[in-house]
Amino acid sequence: MMNRRSALKTGALGVAAIATGLRPDSVQAQAQASGGPFSLPPLPYAFDALEPHIDAKTMEIHHDRHHGAYVNGLNQALAKAPALAGKSIEELLSGLAQVPEAVRTAIRNHGGGHHNHSLFWKMLTPRGGAKPQGELASALDSQFGSLDGFQDQISKAAMGRFGSGWAWLTLDRNGKLMVESTANQDSALSEGRTPLLGIDVWEHAYYLKYQYRRADYVAAVLKIIDWDFVQERYRAAQA
Ligand SMILES: [Fe+2]
Repeated sequence: MMNRRSALKTGALGVAAIATGLRPDSVQAQAQASGGPFSLPPLPYAFDALEPHIDAKTMEIHHDRHHGAYVNGLNQALAKAPALAGKSIEELLSGLAQVPEAVRTAIRNHGGGHHNHSLFWKMLTPRGGAKPQGELASALDSQFGSLDGFQDQISKAAMGRFGSGWAWLTLDRNGKLMVESTANQDSALSEGRTPLLGIDVWEHAYYLKYQYRRADYVAAVLKIIDWDFVQERYRAAQA
């Protein structure tokens, strides 16, 4: 049950949300996710901004509830492992083997969920239809033959993932682009690779609108990739 103090806090956030034009329930989810070192990042656009490719209700539940739950789970795990205080999410996931065994699975699942979704919101854009440019476009051509070749491979990775997981474009330690798939919320960071672009193929990402038609959802996501963001990650990972 919500006590008076948390009710006041949530109420104040709701007023602030109305003042800033954000949805109060979105801000409430952030309040619920507080209480540890990590917090739910706000969506960088409105819930309905990716319509008709991804519907508003899916975005609301996916961001506020699913991502919010990963943040809460991560904070709860970290509360049991004070030695990990101050570590970034990237440090936690790339150094999973050094994480105390008692919380390793929780950090792998909830920390992976937090990092994967934080990337996912940013690699989507309401201004879809653009194509990769510059160095990234050349690297995609050289590795996959063409942009179509890359899209074909990542679609196959997305369709080939049995059950829940992700399809990724990653960069390995030798600077080579790869398409791969991870199960559950596993992060490519834990395998020593940098995730550049990911497609969430958990049913929670598409079932309300697409039901069993995962291929239609994957094709829709590929229309709303923020290639500027992916290019920036590619540049940073190479550096
Ligand atoms: Fe998800």
